[in-house]
Amino acid sequence: MSVRVAMMAGMKDAATMASPAALTSPEAYADAVATAVRAAAAYYADGDTPLGDDEYDALVRAVEAYEREHPDEVLPESPTGKVAGGAVVGDVPHSAPMLSLDNVFSAEELESWAAGLERRLGRPVAAWCVEPKLDGLAVAARYRSGRLTQVLTRGDGLAGEDITHAADAVLGLPVQLAEPLDIELRGEVLLTHEQFEQANAVRTAHGATPFAHPRSGAAGTLRAKDRPYRVELTFFAYSALGLPGLGHADLLARLAELGANTAVTTDAAPRRCATLAEAQQRIDEIAALRAALPFGIDGVVVKADAVADQEEAGSGSRAPRWAVARKLQAQHKVTRLLAVEWNVGRTGIIAPRAVLEPVVIDGVTVTYATLHNPADIERRGLMIGDQVFVYRAGDVIPRVEAPLVDERTGDEQPIAFPEVCPRCGDAIDTSEQRWRCVRGRGCQAVASVIYAAGRDQLDIEGLGGTRAVQLVEAGLVSDIADLFTLTREQLLTLDRMGETSADNLLAAIETARSRPLNRVFCALGIRGTGRTMSRRIAAHFGSMVAIRAADAEALAGVDGIGVEKAAVIVAELVDVATLLDKLAAQGVGTAVSEPAAPAAASTDAPEAGPLAGQSVVVTGAMTGALADLSRNAMNELIERAGGKASSSVSKRTTLLVAGEKAGSKRAKAEELGIRIVTPEEFAVLVADHLDVD
Ligand code: IVH
Repeated sequence: MSVRVAMMAGMKDAATMASPAALTSPEAYADAVATAVRAAAAYYADGDTPLGDDEYDALVRAVEAYEREHPDEVLPESPTGKVAGGAVVGDVPHSAPMLSLDNVFSAEELESWAAGLERRLGRPVAAWCVEPKLDGLAVAARYRSGRLTQVLTRGDGLAGEDITHAADAVLGLPVQLAEPLDIELRGEVLLTHEQFEQANAVRTAHGATPFAHPRSGAAGTLRAKDRPYRVELTFFAYSALGLPGLGHADLLARLAELGANTAVTTDAAPRRCATLAEAQQRIDEIAALRAALPFGIDGVVVKADAVADQEEAGSGSRAPRWAVARKLQAQHKVTRLLAVEWNVGRTGIIAPRAVLEPVVIDGVTVTYATLHNPADIERRGLMIGDQVFVYRAGDVIPRVEAPLVDERTGDEQPIAFPEVCPRCGDAIDTSEQRWRCVRGRGCQAVASVIYAAGRDQLDIEGLGGTRAVQLVEAGLVSDIADLFTLTREQLLTLDRMGETSADNLLAAIETARSRPLNRVFCALGIRGTGRTMSRRIAAHFGSMVAIRAADAEALAGVDGIGVEKAAVIVAELVDVATLLDKLAAQGVGTAVSEPAAPAAASTDAPEAGPLAGQSVVVTGAMTGALADLSRNAMNELIERAGGKASSSVSKRTTLLVAGEKAGSKRAKAEELGIRIVTPEEFAVLVADHLDVD
């Protein structure tokens, strides 16, 4: 799993949307206005903005609130009440103003908006129409006798820019209607998820920077002229001039009949609803569908369906009174790139992954995002510390799209690319876009054999890195179970493997065959199950068969395993099912388990032993009877003897085992008056617990 997500409710209400602190001074208000104007200008120039949609909306709401309180301080450049936040003007006048929509952010806000509309009409709204709010750019497409003659952007709502040159590349915007009508289609142009992928592939292939997200891609593409490549877009019609007398749902059906693309053919099709409760239900449905839609939506639009209701409600200067947008949380957010991790997959692919400052996108906390491949990182010019656009569409793995270069402070650091395989340390094949360990699938096998043969696992003497590489490369071993079927003849085919070494290795493997269950389990390398946890699991279940039969709930019954970890273990056990079958066939893992270490906060395993109640820290080199023990083994020993192992000295520490070259921990323990013993003294103290293997 490369994404750590914390699911929250699917739809957010106003309280959970970004909400900046209220503006309390004229300076703060002027600042907020300036920020909003800048963001709107950037947004409408090329679709990009350093503010996420949620942040922009929240900022404008704060500005509005201030203006309600201080009506005589309203600045002329304020974005409130203006189409496109007052950001742009075009040069071709519109036949009728291209309006914007008012927003609501919760079911309650929608209810009071609807109540207001019904008060104005003096009667209930006859019917509602609920449809997706497409996340693209509004355009007007003019037809004469059924032929497309001109396409305009919204501009400031009164006049727009002529983008007829871009019409060819827009799917769903017919050059010829099914009937020779003089009408104007209005709708949204966007890049579907697939078109966005294609666009970025073709752009990067041409050495251009990828689009930060679909909307900026659509905006840039509509304006671009003379590009050496083609980027396809999609049009969705949502209204029209010149087809009077049709209710909204009927109008959409008619537009589809004439050949225009509409949302009618999508899963989020517009639906006529008799009551607001029904409309609310459709809003929830569309919101739930969002992740699965092939294009981005940033809300759901609720419209009074009947012509009479629309006409009587009329429009304000910015938005109609008969329609409103129920906004959904943005799927793009700006956050900081903290680090890049390199993970080696099963096939040896070395994939970079972005570690992000956690950010909530559409109700999900995103901490990691994919970064495709090294070439892609270079093309995007990403640096550690950059503010980046992160995109998450439903259950799709979040992606880092682009850095906000203008936001750089100078403290950003270049991303370090690995020089050797981060898992097995061998060379990296960089000849393809996706880097790969030269061992390919073998990388995993080598790493897992080395791990399994380690001292805390099967403890197979004579099976180190070089031998593991040889065995895997010779095709003799592809997983740890294969070790147990190796023959003397096979071993003798290996380079620098004499008869004695072969016999010794076979004997070591034979000894490993009867290692206790906890060590065999530990050898599987399942995430989150080191030596201590493996002991607990083995002691809890008693056999590999019982461990395999355990579900997450049963596993969570083991001390120290939470529900999250339990689910990971269950999933990983499924992954290694074949390996476990092979091991069982070899009789590996059937020996009884070693006693489990008591858990720190265990209630059913009262602490006993010479270290009961002690908090022990080990420092310096161990000598004497403890000379061979790794730090991990020391910690195990402490726990077996009833103590609690800790890595740093604090007021809670009661005993320090200080070996040779003990440094600052010893000094600190002396300062705190903590009891200090030598490794030899400690060995005497825990003598009864020393030999368990
Ligand atoms: S109706 C007079 N319907 O959202 C009606 N707009 O935030 C005005 N939009 O400017 C628009 N999907 O660009 C309408 N189904 C939909 C829409 C939609 C997206 C856009 C449109 C509008 C903006 C307002």
